[in-house]
Amino acid sequence: MERITVKEVDIHICGGGFDSKTCRKACTGKCPYCYVDMVSGSNPVFRDLPVFGDTKTLMQVIRNIHASAQPEDLVFVGGDPCEHDDLMKLIQFAKGLGMNVAVLSNTHIYRDGGKIIPIEWITPFVDELALTLHGIGSSHDSINGNKGAYENAMRQLRKFMAARGKSDRAVSIVLNFVPYTMLNIEEMMIGIIEELQMDPERDYFAIQRIAPTGLAEDDYEQWKVRRDLLPQTLEVIERIRKDRGFETKVDTIDVFPWCAIPDKYHYMLHEGGCQWGRPNGILSVVQDGGIQRCALSERTIGSFLDIDTQGEFARFMLDNQTLSAFREHRHLDDKCLHCQYLDKCGGGCVIASGNGDPYVIEGAVHKGHDYLVV
Ligand SMILES: C[S@@+](CC[C@H](N)C(=O)[O-])C[C@H]1O[C@@H](n2cnc3c(N)ncnc32)[C@H](O)[C@@H]1O
Ligand code: SF4
Ligand code: SF4
Repeated sequence: MERITVKEVDIHICGGGFDSKTCRKACTGKCPYCYVDMVSGSNPVFRDLPVFGDTKTLMQVIRNIHASAQPEDLVFVGGDPCEHDDLMKLIQFAKGLGMNVAVLSNTHIYRDGGKIIPIEWITPFVDELALTLHGIGSSHDSINGNKGAYENAMRQLRKFMAARGKSDRAVSIVLNFVPYTMLNIEEMMIGIIEELQMDPERDYFAIQRIAPTGLAEDDYEQWKVRRDLLPQTLEVIERIRKDRGFETKVDTIDVFPWCAIPDKYHYMLHEGGCQWGRPNGILSVVQDGGIQRCALSERTIGSFLDIDTQGEFARFMLDNQTLSAFREHRHLDDKCLHCQYLDKCGGGCVIASGNGDPYVIEGAVHKGHDYLVV
């Protein structure tokens, strides 16, 4: 059997809801477009899952991910993964297996056995801390839904940056490409670079598109990338790269159609298109071990509780109907299938298209194209 691995696995260790057993929320955020929505239940993947993943199950899932998919990077997400009582234990376990560990949290307030611990205690075990930034100061708070969220996150990240010394531990800033972020991109990027004294040798930015799933399903128009704003936004990203040396990963989380981006910015795009669910690419996992092709997919296609060897993983990647249909571009309409850029572009992001996950029903792929296609 061919040896197949992935580069990264993102693991959701909790959802976004309220846990009646512990009387705790799995995320203090109230972002109006959150896909990990367990409250209204509109994202079927998260609807029936436990709010907090069980620690023993998660350790088994992490062990199996390492033994079978062998990713270099394991990214803890949620909900807010920091709300999980055993995040420290899970981080140490993953690091002990040899994976690079990153945490995407809105608080970065860490817990060990349920008790809040100093962020300096986790620093030796993590390679990267990531924060989704919605604005500078109170504009961040107004989207995240908590007064003081920005200041609190800044305090934690500053402590981490002081504790990392000269090591190559990184801070990454995720910018969701909603219209107000695109309109304020310069102020936000310069603001956070200066606020945190970010280091271009280690720290960087990443772009995320919002998909019509979870809370974003209602009134999706307001969260969509505005095509008319793309050239000016990319110009700012290019300028910050040239003047200040900061990299922005425009196309690694969610892809952009090559035809929607002026040619001079094509160098920012990843050749081959969307890497979710591909060999050497990325996979998403939910709190019971369920595997999603992409974090924004609306169904699971397997479980890491059932896959614990390289051979089983290779078989899963090659045989799974959704993954093979995706590799064969079965979700694309003629416009993309006959396009000269298809090999490089892959057809953009069809989940973010406005129609949702084209593979939501097994064996019944719906066709379409990214709404940004020109
Ligand atoms: C669900 S959050 C979990 C980690 C953490 N709570 C945070 O907000 O960064 C992961 C990322 O997904 C983004 N996100 C939320 N809803 C989304 C949606 N409907 N489509 C795409 N990304 C979304 C968030 O803004 C964040 O950048
Ligand atoms: S996007 Fe993140 S911070 Fe916001 S509500 Fe969802 S999980 Fe919480
Ligand atoms: S493959 Fe589709 S999305 Fe990509 S450049 Fe061609 S028409 Fe645009």
